[in-house]
Amino acid sequence: MYEHLTKAAKDALSKQFGVVPDVVWEYTQGPDRGDVSTCIALQIAKNVKSSPRAVAEVVEEALKGLKGVERTEIAGSGYVNVWLTPDELLKGLIQTRTACTAKVKRKKEAPIIIDYCGPNIAKPLGIHHILSHVVGQAMINLYRHGGYNVIGWSYPGDWGTQFGKLFVAYEKWGSKKPVIKYSVDELLSLYVRFHQEAEENPSLEDDARKVFAKMEAGDKTLRTFWREVVEISRKDLEKLYARLQIHVDIETGESFYEEKMNPILEEGQKKGVVTRGEGGALIVEFSAEKNLPPMMLKKSDGSTLYATRDLAMVRYRLDEYDPKALYYVVDVAQSLHFQQLEAACELFGWKMPAFEHVYFGRMRFADASMSTRKGTVIRLEDALDEGVRRAAEIIRERGEGIQTDAPEVLAEMMGIGALVYGILSQNRKMDIIFDWNKMLSFEGNSAPYLQYTHARSRSVLRKANQKNIVNFPTVDRLSASERKLIGTLLQFALILDEACVTHMPHKLAHYLYALCQDYNAFYNAEPILQAAEPSRTLRLSLTACAADVLKTGAELLTLRVPDRM
Ligand code: ARG
Repeated sequence: MYEHLTKAAKDALSKQFGVVPDVVWEYTQGPDRGDVSTCIALQIAKNVKSSPRAVAEVVEEALKGLKGVERTEIAGSGYVNVWLTPDELLKGLIQTRTACTAKVKRKKEAPIIIDYCGPNIAKPLGIHHILSHVVGQAMINLYRHGGYNVIGWSYPGDWGTQFGKLFVAYEKWGSKKPVIKYSVDELLSLYVRFHQEAEENPSLEDDARKVFAKMEAGDKTLRTFWREVVEISRKDLEKLYARLQIHVDIETGESFYEEKMNPILEEGQKKGVVTRGEGGALIVEFSAEKNLPPMMLKKSDGSTLYATRDLAMVRYRLDEYDPKALYYVVDVAQSLHFQQLEAACELFGWKMPAFEHVYFGRMRFADASMSTRKGTVIRLEDALDEGVRRAAEIIRERGEGIQTDAPEVLAEMMGIGALVYGILSQNRKMDIIFDWNKMLSFEGNSAPYLQYTHARSRSVLRKANQKNIVNFPTVDRLSASERKLIGTLLQFALILDEACVTHMPHKLAHYLYALCQDYNAFYNAEPILQAAEPSRTLRLSLTACAADVLKTGAELLTLRVPDRM
């Protein structure tokens, strides 16, 4: 980027100091500090035995009068800030336009496997389950858009004592229709009933464990029961996933690894990595500097564990896909598990790709309405419905202030978008705060604000009868708000890249928020449709560019944006 500026600076530095450093340009916070800036003087001053200021002067001198440079200044202790000419700035927007379409897929490349979703079957999804789903899907979308070969892989918990509980409840309190005729809600009430009754009568838990042991041993009736429950849940999940724009590429449940665990345990024992622990359990012990407790792979009663399956799954993925990375988008509560998993793979001597537990924090509720129901999980589906209901209310209240031919469709987009964006706009490493008012606000960093700004830009284009034609004319000068908007638009490609490789979707969300603010400030400051040429063409082109960036960015975050609102 800005290679001729780099070359001029390098030539001058080489002539003056005999060094040829890498001169990098960064976009500034805003046009009052130039459009781009370099801190090269600060970086090399010591090396060339000079002051930052003196080095900066050499750089500045070299840039003066260069084509594309409007003005320069030395700021702070040695930053060189550069204002570019309108032509030069607008030229850079080609890159922004390109970033709005997905890069050509590097098909031959080893895939990046992103492990996400992992719903537990036969229990309803709770509100907090949305975190892995949307953070994972945003990461997948970003990688895919960037041209990477990526596989979104869900690992549902489709095996475990919950099936025993359900069966006991079905036998005791179910109507006698075949289980496949049950709805998820009916299954859920059986499940809830089980837990209520088990409080009075703890022996039910034992019954459930016994039933599950029989299921594991291969009992035919129980296996059929299990398969049907999984089937019902899957159909229900599909509906939820369609609403959330979740698209899983591969799904292998816990049951899939049943046969794959023993070979791993044998391999580990042969290698001396897996040893006998207390009561005959099988464990992996780590070296002292790892500072990790032993990982259990088989209990003394012979049953396998979550860790055993995860280990078998790593092996399966290595064998079948030879991935270049394994990323797990899972709750921070499982940190220890993933540290142990990675350390165990090392001990097994497997050739490992990049490995990261892409964790996220706990969900906390700002709304009293959500925290008063303490103890019971808030179902994800109920939360989505609540979001949509609130959005519909806002649409009704705003009346003429919102244009739409299909208020229900808009409410769905807004309500679900609000929830999803409310999550993705927060740093995933911190606790995630759940706050309806903030999520649905029209003024702040929220989905409705983004959706509204997008619709506003499309409406301008509609009135001009212009789709997204971009045709930048030559202009002598730019207004402050045009310049600010262009400066932000120029950064889109970089932000996409950064949000992708750091696995931090909130960086993209923050960018989109800043872009909305810049576009709205521009919209309020400048006439667009009524402006004289060449300003009118310039402003319409900037509007089209902003509209496309907002749409592309929002969709990468799994949001949908309306053309009218
Ligand atoms: N089903 C698991 C849970 O709810 C999440 C699965 C995460 N993925 C994995 N490979 N362990 O805790």
